[in-house]
Amino acid sequence: MLTAEAQERLTRVGPGTPMGELMRRYWLPVRPLSQLKEEEVMPIRILGEDLVLFITKKGELGLVGERCPHRAVLMKFGIPDEDGLRCCYHGWEFAPDGQCIDTPLESPTNKLKDQVKIAAYPVREMGGLVWAYMGPQPVPLLAPWDLFVMPNAIRQIGISVLECNWLQCHENTGDPAHSVYLHGYMFKHMLEKNGDLEERTKDRQMSTLHSRIDMGRGIESLYAHETQYGMEKGINYSKAMGADKDRQSRHSTVIFPFYTQTGGPGQVRQEFQIRVPIDDVSTYHIAYGCYTAPTAVPAPVQDSIPYYDIPIFDEDGKPLWDFVLAQDAHAWVSQGEIYDRTSEQLGRTDLPIVFMRRQFEEQMRVVEDGGDPKNVFREPDAMPDLIHGGIWDEGNSSVTGAGGAIANFRSAYHKGYGIDDADRYGPAMPVIIDLMQRIDDHSAALSSD
Ligand code: FES
Ligand SMILES: [Fe+2]
Repeated sequence: MLTAEAQERLTRVGPGTPMGELMRRYWLPVRPLSQLKEEEVMPIRILGEDLVLFITKKGELGLVGERCPHRAVLMKFGIPDEDGLRCCYHGWEFAPDGQCIDTPLESPTNKLKDQVKIAAYPVREMGGLVWAYMGPQPVPLLAPWDLFVMPNAIRQIGISVLECNWLQCHENTGDPAHSVYLHGYMFKHMLEKNGDLEERTKDRQMSTLHSRIDMGRGIESLYAHETQYGMEKGINYSKAMGADKDRQSRHSTVIFPFYTQTGGPGQVRQEFQIRVPIDDVSTYHIAYGCYTAPTAVPAPVQDSIPYYDIPIFDEDGKPLWDFVLAQDAHAWVSQGEIYDRTSEQLGRTDLPIVFMRRQFEEQMRVVEDGGDPKNVFREPDAMPDLIHGGIWDEGNSSVTGAGGAIANFRSAYHKGYGIDDADRYGPAMPVIIDLMQRIDDHSAALSSD
């Protein structure tokens, strides 16, 4: 349970709020580049600010305030030009750095344009995403988290706009145990209701829900602790309490401030779930899929990284419950716009959430004291080419090429198992399936040698 003040600090993201200031220390992924190339000019709302993202005819990216400084017409109606974005009303043109560079209907000798600027934020591209930095100068480095820059991989970007506060989505990451019910029993219940259970779970090893239900057996306790880039958490199992053996099960990597990474080296499918606050009551949720292959199995080069919308309702407006991310999304949204943590009743499974909230509070204080919070990088020499969020950096087998385990439903889409994940909607699925098949053949050839 939190005090009302602690809840406010953790959830509000507008300018000047403690969490809003913390978030403004990071490069934020705001849209897929492939989508911006299609649309050229896009209104976006991030951290409670309404902005306009654009790409010039030359291919330069820009992010500016929503209204023209001349007479306040919306820049989302702007015309992309060679060097900037032109307002649709009188054609004033703004460069990506916000400087007005043309006022075509004014006298050629008028120096008005030199004095006019529109608010602008720096933007860059990495891993097929457009990133924006909305914080104070100096601008930090754009951190090359592994999935955005990993070689020999196929990528696709799944987008959902969720009508709830970003922290609800992210607290899910501090909650390994929810899988047992939400992705296990609830999933089973829904498939049973629709008469799909038998078909969807014929292969026990490959079905999501059986492995999730099994996660509930013999839970002794949960653990959480700090790591270099975020936190680690998971479940301690006890044989005496019904588990197969005494063991610790690590649950996805958490990279501060809003990334969850599933999968690991050697696993064909890895994913970042990124929870970017649109404002206090809505979240731009990115499921960034990265499918890596051992070096012996070349992945096709992608000219651009495709994006897709992840639906959580069907065409008739009924909630979809038959894939993992939709199950999560319905749970988060159902908690309410900003759920009231002053009256929650926490149990033992919530221990990593408590840890996570403390970590956010600690990092908000670092910013309030004028420091750089976790994962703000400024020295190019100190920055590796690729940053791994987890403990599994050493000899990372995805990069070195020893991977290729085709061992569970997330690495066997070629056998028909992609259906339990949002990935099933992704435009790159045919090439991913082909890649998984080739990795499988390669692994089979290796083991028969
Ligand atoms: S209102 Fe934008 S150019 Fe006049
Ligand atoms: Fe989940």
